[in-house]
Amino acid sequence: MTEITTSRQGQVLVVRLNRPEKMNAITRSMYGELARNLNEAAENEEIRCAVITSEGEHFTAGNDIRDFMSNPPTEEDSDVAKFLGSLLEFPKPLLAAVKGNAVGVGTTMLLHCDVVIAAPTASFSMPFTSLGLVPEAGSTKLFPELVGYQRAAKIFMTGEAFSADEALEMGMIAGIASDPESEIIAIAEKIATQPPKAIMNTKALMKANNHDAVVHVMRAEFQLFALALQSEEAAEAFMKFMATRGK
Ligand code: COA
Repeated sequence: MTEITTSRQGQVLVVRLNRPEKMNAITRSMYGELARNLNEAAENEEIRCAVITSEGEHFTAGNDIRDFMSNPPTEEDSDVAKFLGSLLEFPKPLLAAVKGNAVGVGTTMLLHCDVVIAAPTASFSMPFTSLGLVPEAGSTKLFPELVGYQRAAKIFMTGEAFSADEALEMGMIAGIASDPESEIIAIAEKIATQPPKAIMNTKALMKANNHDAVVHVMRAEFQLFALALQSEEAAEAFMKFMATRGK
């Protein structure tokens, strides 16, 4: 069974994180697959928008910590870097349905999505500092811009989680629904009936202001993240995580 699956609902591509036994923690090969799917969808004229969703209880527990330890992604052409690039450059509407926990990149990837719907019980967190790391995916720029420096700093520096209600109030998600996947697919199908060039141009205009600055920040984050991955602080936090869980 593949850990990233895709399906089509008319002109909507549905990309599913499908590793529920590991809380959809994302491995290097899953990042590569996500990047490939987004790049193909960007080129395929039959696809008008894409939805990221998940199998099982949670959206994702973020980066797979074991994979990170054995294959630290320190190169700028690593699969995780490719995925983040594809997210930033995806020219069509990108939507997401979130339930359960969205940890780490599970939350930062949402900052690149155009519409996110979450379950009432969804929980968001970016505990990078707790793991001896730094936030990624342009979140050190995008998150303070969205919620204000003080709130962003509190969330980044404490590693604390926030609820769907708080995410809605912050403007990080577009709505809350008991079945976020059905809701997001309905929104995606509606967007897919709109004139596609008008949609893509609208997205390009909304993102244009920030694009180059986000590329710059992502590069800086990546360099510090790669160094942090090899630090004692991270090694200690990762060992602690693994000590409390199986293989
Ligand atoms: N990387 C690798 N494996 C992970 C993982 C991660 N980020 N998150 C969960 N898993 C694995 C666990 O090791 C466990 O596997 P095992 O049964 O072989 O031991 C399995 O997924 C279930 O996880 P568990 O923590 O027992 O589930 P839970 O329901 O009690 O808690 C979470 C769910 C998401 C709250 C919890 O798994 C969690 O906090 N994960 C770590 C998230 C994190 O720090 N991510 C940041 C990465 S930068």
